[in-house]
Amino acid sequence: MIEERKGWFFISTRHSSYIMRISPTGHIEHIHYGGYIPSSAEGIGQIQGPDDIRLGDGTYYDEDHQHTFLSRMLQEYSVPGKGDTRESALIAEYRNGLITLDFIYHSHRIYSGKDYAILPQVSGDGADTLELTLRDTVLPVYLVLRYTSYEEEDVILRSAEIWNEMDDEVLLRTVSSMMLDLPDSEWDLMTFDGAWARERNEYRRPLAPGVVYVDSKLGFSSCEHNSLVFLLRPDADDSHGEAIAINQIYSGNHQERVEVSPFGLVRVIASINPFGFGWKLGKGESFRSPEAVLSYSCSGLDKLSASLHRFAERYIVRSQYGQMDRPIAINNWEATYFDFTEEKIMKLAATAASVGIELFVLDDGWFGRRTNDTRGLGDWTVNRSKLPEGLSGYADKIHSLGMKAGIWVEPEMVSMDSELYEKHPEWMIAIPGRRPSAGRHQYILDLSRADVIEYLFQSMSSVFSSGIDYVKWDANRNMSDYFTSSPDARFQGELFHRYIQGLYSLLDRLTSAFPDILFEFCSSGGNRYDLGALAFSPQGWVSDDTDAMERMRIQNGTLRGYPLSSMSNHVTASPNHQNLRRTGLEDRFGVACFGVLGYELDLNKLSDEELSVIKNQIAFYKAHRHTFQHGTFHHLPSSDGALFWAVESSDEMIILEYQERNGVNTGRHRRLRIPFADRDTVYSIERRGKHVFREDLGDLWKDYESVLHEPFSIRVSGAVLAEAGIALPPLFMGRGFEPATRVLMDNGADLYVVRKT
Ligand code: DGJ
Repeated sequence: MIEERKGWFFISTRHSSYIMRISPTGHIEHIHYGGYIPSSAEGIGQIQGPDDIRLGDGTYYDEDHQHTFLSRMLQEYSVPGKGDTRESALIAEYRNGLITLDFIYHSHRIYSGKDYAILPQVSGDGADTLELTLRDTVLPVYLVLRYTSYEEEDVILRSAEIWNEMDDEVLLRTVSSMMLDLPDSEWDLMTFDGAWARERNEYRRPLAPGVVYVDSKLGFSSCEHNSLVFLLRPDADDSHGEAIAINQIYSGNHQERVEVSPFGLVRVIASINPFGFGWKLGKGESFRSPEAVLSYSCSGLDKLSASLHRFAERYIVRSQYGQMDRPIAINNWEATYFDFTEEKIMKLAATAASVGIELFVLDDGWFGRRTNDTRGLGDWTVNRSKLPEGLSGYADKIHSLGMKAGIWVEPEMVSMDSELYEKHPEWMIAIPGRRPSAGRHQYILDLSRADVIEYLFQSMSSVFSSGIDYVKWDANRNMSDYFTSSPDARFQGELFHRYIQGLYSLLDRLTSAFPDILFEFCSSGGNRYDLGALAFSPQGWVSDDTDAMERMRIQNGTLRGYPLSSMSNHVTASPNHQNLRRTGLEDRFGVACFGVLGYELDLNKLSDEELSVIKNQIAFYKAHRHTFQHGTFHHLPSSDGALFWAVESSDEMIILEYQERNGVNTGRHRRLRIPFADRDTVYSIERRGKHVFREDLGDLWKDYESVLHEPFSIRVSGAVLAEAGIALPPLFMGRGFEPATRVLMDNGADLYVVRKT
């Protein structure tokens, strides 16, 4: 609900309130973001207190307002020049380098739904919007701040638009989606950072005076620093305490700034990265920022993540597959790399179909001159020596096995060794007269150009209309040599953002033209894991690193802001192709099934025993698929060196027990505790029967075999589960096998199914 009362604005969601007011000087002053306060609450005006503090050396607003120091006012969207020397949400240059502007209240509008368009178009069904229009005190320059509130999800969607009515041109240097000022700095900052193959690892540190920048300058949202940031109280954890999430719906260069001012005030700004950015606004023109998601939880991080997951699935993902169950894939990349023939992939597909896999994905190398990664990108015609009957022949053959047919594309890229480059060298991002830098021997097409977008729309349409059910959209290098030779280019500083606008317009057209295709985004693994990509592709390739141990960290960080249904996880070969770690087949599965399961290894090199294990895994996953893909994710208390994850749907909960290393002679039982179990319910808990391979036990196999192993299946009250937890069956620790002894290796995973009885 959104209300206005005597110049105060109240945005209320189920558990949160966002309150602002028009200050005596006309500025929009931030009053509160946190737990819910009714707008009628007595004494609400006392939150702010009167303007009666003088600062020793501060700049006050003007002689009529000697107590108004913008540097200590909590504001909604700051600009430089009138005393606030903290980070600015907007920097707009006009008349030869002037940057001072002063926005004060002009008008407002409250309405149901959401009637403004920004790609990707987030749904406003059932939401309410507040639009605050501000005007500079002198110049006809306007700022529109938009707040769309989603009550059930505790989410506020924010964006800003700047609009120039001056005769002079304005050059935008910094434009933010949102700014949030908070009155104290007792917060920790959590960010999600990494690099290729170790994306979105979680980092937490206390705030301290100064500014922290979290950003990407890679042209894409990047695996180096995700645009998701959390502020959490120092005592907050997965299940307790206050936490705020901020994320941008943007796939390009982003920046999140977190500042602690000399007065201990906190400012968080989420914007397009000012790095290399500039945008010209002529008279009558406006610029809309990307949208940002803001959410608050008073009950810890899991609750916050659950709100973000629900919001993403319901309002951001536009595909019909958003809330639907997704197929289990086999991808040929780590099975064959470039070395495949149709015969080879059909053999892989046939084995995959025989174990219950539902989708075959033909990865890189099926087109043009693409026999290795130095060539062929840009030529989206099938290579007949690999697929003699073309793409539709491939799709027909896959369909005849009862599977869906998927294909890999990397439309934004070009190889110099390609027909496309020979015809259109000017379509590549490069600076005339300078040798361009390369990444994986490839270059980026200039998606700010209308002719490039048209070419890609036509060439992708022809690929997608060949019986294709699924598309993996990859992008395997970062931007360099920033230059567009587009005849429409007005200013080179616009390239980064126009590229993303071009990408979104292309994806918008393609996903509308092919609504039945399931899209998966990918960028050297997880280099483009952001809400903008998710809007068009309901799932993404989380990382090229599929090792279970690494994946626990990567999936954990990803799940902080992105739903289970967005995470495509594959069981790959052991030793792992990224770090050579050997991990059991069942353990790889245990971690991979938290999200959308797939396989990516040569099934034809596996033994019958391994294939039958995979068949059982798939049957298990299918029986619980909806929970794994769309359940509510929780961290449970860890115990005895093991991590516990849970995913809960209306009729069951699946629990993962994961250990990095097996202990020896620990002398205690590991406990499983579910703090939120319903005390008045009796639960059944069953351990998934895992297969133990003879090779894993070596000489001990005989001892293991001689024991009749008991399945673990119990009934227990919710009160016990919530307050004390239960002892799990003992792990093998060098003292022989009893009927209850479990075998859990290093990097090991066990699964449990919990149901209310
Ligand atoms: C990078 C991706 O992350 C891989 O899964 C694979 O698709 C390769 N690109 C293909 O070039």
